[in-house]
Amino acid sequence: MRSPAVKPLKVMVVAGARPDFVKVAPILKVMGAQPEHFLPVLVHTGQHYDNEMSDVFFRDLAVPQPDHLLGAGSGTHAEQAARVMVALERVLGMEAPQWVVVVGDVNSTMAAAVTAVKKSIRTAHVEAGLRSYDRTMPEEINRIVTDAVCDLLLTPSEDADRNLRREGIPKARIVRVGNVMIDSLNEHLPAARALRAWEKQGLDEKAYVLATLHRPSNVDEADNLARIVSALTDVAGDIPVLFPVHPRTAARLKPVANSRLSVLRFSAPLGYLEFISLLSGARLVLTDSGGVQEEASFLGVSCLTFRDSTERPVTVWRGTNTLMGSGPARIAPAIREQLARPLPKPCAIPLWDGHSAERVAASLLRVS
Ligand code: UD1
Ligand code: UDP
Repeated sequence: MRSPAVKPLKVMVVAGARPDFVKVAPILKVMGAQPEHFLPVLVHTGQHYDNEMSDVFFRDLAVPQPDHLLGAGSGTHAEQAARVMVALERVLGMEAPQWVVVVGDVNSTMAAAVTAVKKSIRTAHVEAGLRSYDRTMPEEINRIVTDAVCDLLLTPSEDADRNLRREGIPKARIVRVGNVMIDSLNEHLPAARALRAWEKQGLDEKAYVLATLHRPSNVDEADNLARIVSALTDVAGDIPVLFPVHPRTAARLKPVANSRLSVLRFSAPLGYLEFISLLSGARLVLTDSGGVQEEASFLGVSCLTFRDSTERPVTVWRGTNTLMGSGPARIAPAIREQLARPLPKPCAIPLWDGHSAERVAASLLRVS
Protein backbone atom coordinates (compact mmCIF):
# COMPACT_ATOMS: atom_id res chain seq x y z
CA MET A 1 0.00 0.00 0.00
CA ARG A 2 1.22 3.54 -0.79
CA SER A 3 2.34 5.83 1.99
CA PRO A 4 0.00 8.81 2.68
CA ALA A 5 2.93 11.16 2.02
CA VAL A 6 3.08 10.10 -1.65
CA LYS A 7 1.50 12.43 -4.23
CA PRO A 8 -1.88 11.35 -5.72
CA LEU A 9 -1.74 8.96 -8.66
CA LYS A 10 -2.43 10.65 -11.97
CA VAL A 11 -4.82 8.28 -13.73
CA MET A 12 -5.89 8.93 -17.31
CA VAL A 13 -9.31 7.39 -17.96
CA VAL A 14 -10.20 6.92 -21.64
CA ALA A 15 -13.75 6.74 -23.00
CA GLY A 16 -15.02 7.02 -26.56
CA ALA A 17 -18.32 5.28 -27.22
CA ARG A 18 -21.76 5.17 -25.57
CA PRO A 19 -21.15 2.13 -23.35
CA ASP A 20 -17.79 3.56 -22.21
CA PHE A 21 -19.44 6.58 -20.61
CA VAL A 22 -21.62 4.28 -18.51
CA LYS A 23 -18.51 2.34 -17.44
CA VAL A 24 -16.21 5.27 -16.61
CA ALA A 25 -18.85 7.27 -14.67
CA PRO A 26 -18.53 5.30 -11.40
CA ILE A 27 -14.73 5.02 -11.71
CA LEU A 28 -14.37 8.80 -12.05
CA LYS A 29 -16.77 9.33 -9.17
CA VAL A 30 -14.82 7.07 -6.82
CA MET A 31 -11.49 8.61 -7.82
CA GLY A 32 -12.90 12.13 -7.58
CA ALA A 33 -13.94 11.42 -3.98
CA GLN A 34 -10.36 10.48 -3.02
CA PRO A 35 -8.24 13.50 -4.05
CA GLU A 36 -5.56 12.41 -1.60
CA HIS A 37 -5.08 9.26 -3.70
CA PHE A 38 -6.12 10.13 -7.25
CA LEU A 39 -5.82 12.85 -9.82
CA PRO A 40 -8.12 11.62 -12.60
CA VAL A 41 -7.80 12.97 -16.15
CA LEU A 42 -10.63 12.16 -18.56
CA VAL A 43 -9.97 11.71 -22.28
CA HIS A 44 -12.91 11.51 -24.73
CA THR A 45 -11.70 9.99 -27.99
CA GLY A 46 -14.71 11.27 -29.92
CA GLN A 47 -15.58 7.87 -31.41
CA HIS A 48 -19.19 8.73 -30.59
CA TYR A 49 -20.06 12.39 -30.90
CA ASP A 50 -23.82 12.93 -31.39
CA ASN A 51 -25.68 14.49 -28.50
CA GLU A 52 -27.71 11.27 -28.02
CA MET A 53 -24.62 9.03 -28.17
CA SER A 54 -22.35 11.14 -25.97
CA ASP A 55 -23.42 14.44 -24.29
CA VAL A 56 -26.61 13.05 -22.78
CA PHE A 57 -24.58 10.43 -20.92
CA PHE A 58 -22.37 13.09 -19.38
CA ARG A 59 -25.50 14.84 -18.12
CA ASP A 60 -27.46 11.79 -16.99
CA LEU A 61 -24.51 10.15 -15.25
CA ALA A 62 -22.92 13.38 -13.94
CA VAL A 63 -19.62 12.62 -15.68
CA PRO A 64 -17.20 15.55 -15.44
CA GLN A 65 -16.40 17.30 -18.72
CA PRO A 66 -13.42 15.67 -20.48
CA ASP A 67 -10.00 17.22 -19.97
CA HIS A 68 -9.05 16.25 -23.53
CA LEU A 69 -11.16 15.72 -26.66
CA LEU A 70 -9.39 13.72 -29.36
CA GLY A 71 -12.06 14.17 -32.07
CA ALA A 72 -11.41 10.75 -33.65
CA GLY A 73 -14.92 10.49 -35.15
CA SER A 74 -16.15 7.81 -37.54
CA GLY A 75 -14.30 5.93 -40.26
CA THR A 76 -12.89 2.53 -41.03
CA HIS A 77 -11.47 0.60 -38.09
CA ALA A 78 -7.92 1.48 -39.10
CA GLU A 79 -8.74 5.16 -39.56
CA GLN A 80 -10.56 5.41 -36.25
CA ALA A 81 -7.90 3.54 -34.27
CA ALA A 82 -5.08 5.46 -35.94
CA ARG A 83 -6.67 8.84 -35.13
CA VAL A 84 -7.07 7.83 -31.48
CA MET A 85 -3.46 6.64 -31.34
CA VAL A 86 -1.90 9.75 -32.86
CA ALA A 87 -3.94 12.16 -30.74
CA LEU A 88 -3.61 10.17 -27.52
CA GLU A 89 0.15 9.83 -27.87
CA ARG A 90 0.40 13.60 -27.81
CA VAL A 91 -1.86 13.91 -24.76
CA LEU A 92 0.07 11.20 -22.92
CA GLY A 93 3.24 13.15 -23.59
CA MET A 94 1.67 16.31 -22.11
CA GLU A 95 0.03 14.72 -19.08
CA ALA A 96 2.51 11.93 -18.23
CA PRO A 97 -0.01 9.91 -16.17
CA GLN A 98 1.13 7.06 -13.94
CA TRP A 99 -1.77 4.91 -15.09
CA VAL A 100 -4.10 4.73 -18.07
CA VAL A 101 -7.46 3.03 -17.57
CA VAL A 102 -9.37 1.72 -20.59
CA VAL A 103 -12.81 0.10 -20.48
CA GLY A 104 -14.81 -2.33 -22.62
CA ASP A 105 -14.04 -3.48 -26.13
CA VAL A 106 -14.51 -0.68 -28.66
CA ASN A 107 -11.88 0.54 -31.13
CA SER A 108 -10.97 3.41 -28.78
CA THR A 109 -10.20 0.87 -26.03
CA MET A 110 -7.76 -1.13 -28.11
CA ALA A 111 -6.12 1.93 -29.68
CA ALA A 112 -5.63 3.64 -26.32
CA ALA A 113 -4.25 0.51 -24.65
CA VAL A 114 -1.65 -0.11 -27.36
CA THR A 115 -0.60 3.56 -27.39
CA ALA A 116 -0.23 3.83 -23.62
CA VAL A 117 1.66 0.57 -23.22
CA LYS A 118 4.10 1.58 -25.96
CA LYS A 119 4.77 4.82 -24.03
CA SER A 120 5.68 2.55 -21.08
CA ILE A 121 2.72 3.78 -19.06
CA ARG A 122 1.04 1.21 -16.85
CA THR A 123 -2.35 0.40 -18.26
CA ALA A 124 -5.40 -1.26 -16.74
CA HIS A 125 -8.30 -2.81 -18.65
CA VAL A 126 -11.69 -2.74 -16.96
CA GLU A 127 -14.00 -5.49 -18.28
CA ALA A 128 -11.02 -7.68 -19.18
CA GLY A 129 -11.29 -11.34 -20.11
CA LEU A 130 -14.66 -11.39 -21.90
CA ARG A 131 -14.60 -13.62 -24.97
CA SER A 132 -17.29 -14.53 -27.47
CA TYR A 133 -14.84 -16.84 -29.28
CA ASP A 134 -16.14 -15.31 -32.51
CA ARG A 135 -13.29 -13.54 -34.27
CA THR A 136 -15.61 -12.11 -36.91
CA MET A 137 -16.78 -9.68 -34.21
CA PRO A 138 -14.58 -6.58 -34.33
CA GLU A 139 -14.88 -6.29 -30.55
CA GLU A 140 -13.36 -9.76 -30.05
CA ILE A 141 -10.15 -8.61 -31.74
CA ASN A 142 -10.16 -5.50 -29.56
CA ARG A 143 -10.60 -7.63 -26.42
CA ILE A 144 -7.77 -10.03 -27.29
CA VAL A 145 -5.32 -7.27 -28.20
CA THR A 146 -6.19 -5.11 -25.19
CA ASP A 147 -5.85 -7.96 -22.71
CA ALA A 148 -2.60 -9.12 -24.29
CA VAL A 149 -0.90 -5.75 -23.74
CA CYS A 150 -2.39 -4.33 -20.52
CA ASP A 151 -0.54 -4.65 -17.22
CA LEU A 152 -3.59 -5.06 -15.01
CA LEU A 153 -6.70 -6.98 -16.10
CA LEU A 154 -9.76 -6.11 -14.04
CA THR A 155 -12.47 -8.67 -14.75
CA PRO A 156 -16.24 -8.69 -14.22
CA SER A 157 -16.85 -12.40 -13.63
CA GLU A 158 -15.25 -15.78 -13.04
CA ASP A 159 -15.54 -16.90 -16.68
CA ALA A 160 -13.41 -13.89 -17.66
CA ASP A 161 -10.65 -14.95 -15.24
CA ARG A 162 -10.75 -18.45 -16.72
CA ASN A 163 -10.51 -17.12 -20.29
CA LEU A 164 -7.43 -15.10 -19.42
CA ARG A 165 -5.73 -17.99 -17.60
CA ARG A 166 -6.40 -20.20 -20.64
CA GLU A 167 -4.54 -17.63 -22.76
CA GLY A 168 -1.54 -18.01 -20.48
CA ILE A 169 -1.92 -14.70 -18.62
CA PRO A 170 -0.35 -14.95 -15.17
CA LYS A 171 -2.67 -14.82 -12.16
CA ALA A 172 -0.79 -11.81 -10.79
CA ARG A 173 -2.12 -9.60 -13.63
CA ILE A 174 -5.78 -10.52 -13.02
CA VAL A 175 -8.08 -9.03 -10.38
CA ARG A 176 -11.81 -9.72 -10.33
CA VAL A 177 -13.59 -6.45 -9.53
CA GLY A 178 -17.13 -7.08 -10.77
CA ASN A 179 -19.17 -5.06 -13.24
CA VAL A 180 -18.82 -1.26 -13.31
CA MET A 181 -21.82 -0.93 -15.64
CA ILE A 182 -23.92 -2.37 -12.84
CA ASP A 183 -22.49 0.28 -10.48
CA SER A 184 -24.05 2.92 -12.75
CA LEU A 185 -27.30 1.01 -12.95
CA ASN A 186 -27.47 0.54 -9.20
CA GLU A 187 -26.88 4.25 -8.58
CA HIS A 188 -29.28 5.62 -11.18
CA LEU A 189 -32.10 3.07 -11.08
CA PRO A 190 -34.25 4.98 -8.55
CA ALA A 191 -34.16 8.17 -10.69
CA ALA A 192 -34.79 6.14 -13.85
CA ARG A 193 -37.75 4.29 -12.30
CA ALA A 194 -39.21 7.59 -11.07
CA LEU A 195 -39.37 8.80 -14.69
CA ARG A 196 -41.89 6.04 -15.57
CA ALA A 197 -40.89 6.60 -19.19
CA TRP A 198 -43.43 4.05 -20.47
CA GLU A 199 -46.26 6.40 -19.45
CA LYS A 200 -44.93 9.06 -21.82
CA GLN A 201 -45.44 6.46 -24.56
CA GLY A 202 -49.00 5.77 -23.38
CA LEU A 203 -47.98 2.24 -22.32
CA ASP A 204 -48.46 0.11 -19.22
CA GLU A 205 -45.56 -1.38 -17.33
CA LYS A 206 -44.66 -4.93 -18.47
CA ALA A 207 -46.88 -4.53 -21.53
CA TYR A 208 -44.31 -3.63 -24.20
CA VAL A 209 -41.12 -4.90 -25.79
CA LEU A 210 -37.92 -2.82 -26.05
CA ALA A 211 -35.56 -3.52 -28.96
CA THR A 212 -32.00 -2.36 -29.75
CA LEU A 213 -29.87 -3.44 -32.68
CA HIS A 214 -26.45 -2.31 -33.87
CA ARG A 215 -24.04 -5.24 -34.44
CA PRO A 216 -22.58 -5.07 -37.97
CA SER A 217 -23.47 -8.77 -38.44
CA ASN A 218 -27.15 -7.91 -37.95
CA VAL A 219 -27.47 -4.49 -39.56
CA ASP A 220 -24.80 -4.07 -42.22
CA GLU A 221 -26.28 -6.68 -44.58
CA ALA A 222 -29.59 -5.36 -45.90
CA ASP A 223 -31.12 -8.85 -46.00
CA ASN A 224 -30.28 -9.64 -42.36
CA LEU A 225 -31.64 -6.32 -41.19
CA ALA A 226 -34.80 -6.70 -43.26
CA ARG A 227 -35.46 -10.17 -41.79
CA ILE A 228 -35.03 -9.04 -38.20
CA VAL A 229 -37.18 -5.97 -38.73
CA SER A 230 -39.83 -8.05 -40.46
CA ALA A 231 -39.97 -10.42 -37.43
CA LEU A 232 -40.34 -7.37 -35.16
CA THR A 233 -43.22 -5.99 -37.21
CA ASP A 234 -44.85 -9.41 -36.94
CA VAL A 235 -44.57 -9.37 -33.12
CA ALA A 236 -45.78 -5.75 -32.97
CA GLY A 237 -49.20 -7.13 -33.88
CA ASP A 238 -49.26 -8.78 -30.40
CA ILE A 239 -47.47 -6.22 -28.21
CA PRO A 240 -46.06 -2.70 -28.77
CA VAL A 241 -42.39 -2.70 -29.78
CA LEU A 242 -40.24 0.35 -28.89
CA PHE A 243 -37.11 0.63 -30.99
CA PRO A 244 -34.58 3.40 -30.20
CA VAL A 245 -32.35 3.29 -33.26
CA HIS A 246 -28.53 3.35 -33.08
CA PRO A 247 -26.99 5.63 -35.76
CA ARG A 248 -25.30 2.68 -37.54
CA THR A 249 -28.72 1.07 -37.88
CA ALA A 250 -30.54 4.29 -38.78
CA ALA A 251 -28.31 4.72 -41.81
CA ARG A 252 -29.16 1.20 -42.99
CA LEU A 253 -32.88 1.21 -42.18
CA LYS A 254 -33.74 3.81 -44.80
CA PRO A 255 -33.59 1.41 -47.78
CA VAL A 256 -35.54 -1.21 -45.79
CA ALA A 257 -38.32 1.24 -44.97
CA ASN A 258 -41.78 0.17 -46.03
CA SER A 259 -45.29 0.86 -44.83
CA ARG A 260 -45.25 -2.14 -42.41
CA LEU A 261 -42.44 -0.52 -40.44
CA SER A 262 -44.86 2.07 -39.10
CA VAL A 263 -46.14 -0.50 -36.58
CA LEU A 264 -42.79 -0.20 -34.77
CA ARG A 265 -42.31 2.74 -32.42
CA PHE A 266 -38.98 4.08 -33.63
CA SER A 267 -37.07 6.81 -31.82
CA ALA A 268 -33.62 8.38 -31.78
CA PRO A 269 -31.15 6.75 -29.36
CA LEU A 270 -32.35 7.46 -25.83
CA GLY A 271 -30.55 9.06 -22.93
CA TYR A 272 -29.37 6.72 -20.19
CA LEU A 273 -32.07 7.48 -17.63
CA GLU A 274 -34.91 7.23 -20.13
CA PHE A 275 -33.53 4.01 -21.58
CA ILE A 276 -33.03 2.39 -18.17
CA SER A 277 -36.52 3.48 -17.19
CA LEU A 278 -37.97 1.78 -20.28
CA LEU A 279 -35.76 -1.28 -19.81
CA SER A 280 -36.83 -1.74 -16.21
CA GLY A 281 -40.51 -1.50 -17.21
CA ALA A 282 -40.30 -3.76 -20.28
CA ARG A 283 -41.92 -7.19 -20.54
CA LEU A 284 -39.06 -8.30 -22.75
CA VAL A 285 -35.93 -6.82 -24.31
CA LEU A 286 -34.64 -7.85 -27.73
CA THR A 287 -31.06 -6.84 -28.31
CA ASP A 288 -27.62 -7.51 -29.70
CA SER A 289 -25.97 -5.10 -27.24
CA GLY A 290 -23.40 -6.37 -24.75
CA GLY A 291 -24.34 -3.99 -21.95
CA VAL A 292 -28.09 -4.38 -22.36
CA GLN A 293 -27.80 -8.18 -21.85
CA GLU A 294 -26.14 -7.48 -18.49
CA GLU A 295 -28.54 -4.75 -17.42
CA ALA A 296 -31.57 -6.88 -18.30
CA SER A 297 -30.19 -9.81 -16.31
CA PHE A 298 -29.49 -7.63 -13.30
CA LEU A 299 -33.01 -6.17 -13.44
CA GLY A 300 -34.75 -9.51 -14.04
CA VAL A 301 -36.09 -8.49 -17.44
CA SER A 302 -36.29 -11.34 -19.96
CA CYS A 303 -33.75 -10.84 -22.72
CA LEU A 304 -33.54 -12.43 -26.15
CA THR A 305 -30.26 -11.78 -27.90
CA PHE A 306 -29.97 -11.62 -31.70
CA ARG A 307 -26.62 -13.40 -31.72
CA ASP A 308 -25.16 -16.89 -31.90
CA SER A 309 -22.61 -16.25 -29.15
CA THR A 310 -22.10 -13.93 -26.23
CA GLU A 311 -19.04 -12.74 -24.36
CA ARG A 312 -21.33 -12.44 -21.32
CA PRO A 313 -22.23 -16.11 -20.74
CA VAL A 314 -23.18 -15.56 -17.09
CA THR A 315 -26.34 -13.83 -18.30
CA VAL A 316 -27.31 -17.05 -20.12
CA TRP A 317 -26.26 -19.43 -17.34
CA ARG A 318 -28.41 -17.46 -14.90
CA GLY A 319 -31.43 -18.00 -17.13
CA THR A 320 -32.34 -14.37 -17.86
CA ASN A 321 -30.83 -14.22 -21.34
CA THR A 322 -31.38 -16.52 -24.33
CA LEU A 323 -29.34 -16.51 -27.53
CA MET A 324 -31.70 -16.83 -30.46
CA GLY A 325 -29.26 -16.23 -33.31
CA SER A 326 -30.67 -14.08 -36.07
CA GLY A 327 -32.14 -16.77 -38.31
CA PRO A 328 -35.44 -15.37 -39.63
CA ALA A 329 -37.58 -18.44 -38.83
CA ARG A 330 -36.49 -18.40 -35.16
CA ILE A 331 -37.16 -14.82 -34.20
CA ALA A 332 -40.92 -14.32 -34.06
CA PRO A 333 -41.61 -17.81 -32.51
CA ALA A 334 -38.83 -17.31 -29.94
CA ILE A 335 -40.33 -13.95 -28.95
CA ARG A 336 -43.84 -15.40 -28.61
CA GLU A 337 -42.52 -18.33 -26.59
CA GLN A 338 -40.71 -15.95 -24.26
CA LEU A 339 -43.78 -13.74 -23.85
CA ALA A 340 -45.74 -16.78 -22.67
CA ARG A 341 -43.22 -17.55 -19.89
CA PRO A 342 -43.29 -16.10 -16.37
CA LEU A 343 -41.02 -13.12 -15.65
CA PRO A 344 -37.53 -14.17 -14.51
CA LYS A 345 -36.08 -13.19 -11.14
CA PRO A 346 -33.41 -10.48 -10.95
CA CYS A 347 -30.04 -12.09 -11.30
CA ALA A 348 -27.52 -11.98 -8.43
CA ILE A 349 -24.04 -12.38 -9.88
CA PRO A 350 -21.11 -12.25 -7.46
CA LEU A 351 -19.52 -8.77 -7.30
CA TRP A 352 -22.21 -7.17 -9.49
CA ASP A 353 -23.02 -5.23 -6.37
CA GLY A 354 -22.56 -1.52 -7.07
CA HIS A 355 -19.02 -1.44 -5.62
CA SER A 356 -16.92 -2.50 -8.58
CA ALA A 357 -15.45 0.96 -9.22
CA GLU A 358 -14.24 1.02 -5.61
CA ARG A 359 -12.42 -2.23 -6.30
CA VAL A 360 -10.95 -0.78 -9.51
CA ALA A 361 -9.55 2.17 -7.54
CA ALA A 362 -8.29 -0.04 -4.73
CA SER A 363 -6.53 -2.33 -7.22
CA LEU A 364 -4.66 0.60 -8.76
CA LEU A 365 -3.53 1.81 -5.35
CA ARG A 366 -2.47 -1.67 -4.29
CA VAL A 367 -0.12 -2.19 -7.22
CA SER A 368 1.24 1.39 -7.33
C1 UD1 B 1 -19.21 0.93 -31.64
C2 UD1 B 1 -18.35 -0.25 -31.16
C3 UD1 B 1 -19.24 -1.35 -30.64
C4 UD1 B 1 -20.19 -0.84 -29.57
C5 UD1 B 1 -20.96 0.37 -30.09
C6 UD1 B 1 -21.74 0.96 -28.95
C7 UD1 B 1 -16.26 -0.67 -32.37
C8 UD1 B 1 -15.59 -1.55 -33.37
N1 UD1 B 1 -17.59 -0.80 -32.27
O1 UD1 B 1 -19.99 0.48 -32.72
O2 UD1 B 1 -18.43 -2.37 -30.06
O3 UD1 B 1 -21.07 -1.86 -29.22
O4 UD1 B 1 -20.03 1.36 -30.57
O5 UD1 B 1 -22.79 1.75 -29.38
O6 UD1 B 1 -15.61 0.09 -31.71
N2 UD1 B 1 -22.37 7.41 -35.84
C9 UD1 B 1 -23.09 8.56 -35.78
N3 UD1 B 1 -22.98 9.31 -34.64
C10 UD1 B 1 -22.17 8.97 -33.60
C11 UD1 B 1 -21.44 7.80 -33.70
C12 UD1 B 1 -21.53 7.02 -34.84
O7 UD1 B 1 -23.82 8.92 -36.69
O8 UD1 B 1 -22.14 9.70 -32.58
C13 UD1 B 1 -22.52 6.57 -37.07
C14 UD1 B 1 -21.47 6.83 -38.13
O9 UD1 B 1 -22.06 6.70 -39.37
C15 UD1 B 1 -20.51 5.68 -37.92
C16 UD1 B 1 -21.42 4.55 -37.45
O10 UD1 B 1 -22.42 5.20 -36.68
O11 UD1 B 1 -19.81 5.34 -39.09
C17 UD1 B 1 -20.74 3.51 -36.61
O12 UD1 B 1 -20.04 4.10 -35.51
P1 UD1 B 1 -18.75 3.36 -34.89
O13 UD1 B 1 -18.32 4.06 -33.66
O14 UD1 B 1 -17.71 3.13 -35.93
O15 UD1 B 1 -19.29 1.93 -34.55
P2 UD1 B 1 -20.59 1.50 -33.77
O16 UD1 B 1 -21.44 0.70 -34.67
O17 UD1 B 1 -21.18 2.70 -33.09
N1 UDP C 1 -28.37 2.67 -23.97
C1 UDP C 1 -28.98 3.92 -23.83
N2 UDP C 1 -29.84 4.34 -24.81
C2 UDP C 1 -30.18 3.58 -25.89
C3 UDP C 1 -29.55 2.29 -26.00
C4 UDP C 1 -28.66 1.88 -25.04
O1 UDP C 1 -28.74 4.62 -22.85
O2 UDP C 1 -30.98 4.00 -26.72
C5 UDP C 1 -27.38 2.26 -22.94
C6 UDP C 1 -27.62 0.93 -22.30
O3 UDP C 1 -28.46 1.03 -21.17
C7 UDP C 1 -26.21 0.52 -21.90
C8 UDP C 1 -25.37 1.10 -23.01
O4 UDP C 1 -26.14 2.12 -23.62
O5 UDP C 1 -25.84 1.13 -20.67
C9 UDP C 1 -25.02 0.04 -24.00
O6 UDP C 1 -24.49 0.58 -25.16
P1 UDP C 1 -24.53 -0.13 -26.57
O7 UDP C 1 -25.65 -1.08 -26.65
O8 UDP C 1 -24.47 0.96 -27.57
O9 UDP C 1 -23.11 -0.86 -26.62
P2 UDP C 1 -22.59 -2.31 -26.21
O10 UDP C 1 -22.88 -2.55 -24.79
O11 UDP C 1 -23.21 -3.29 -27.14
O12 UDP C 1 -21.12 -2.23 -26.51
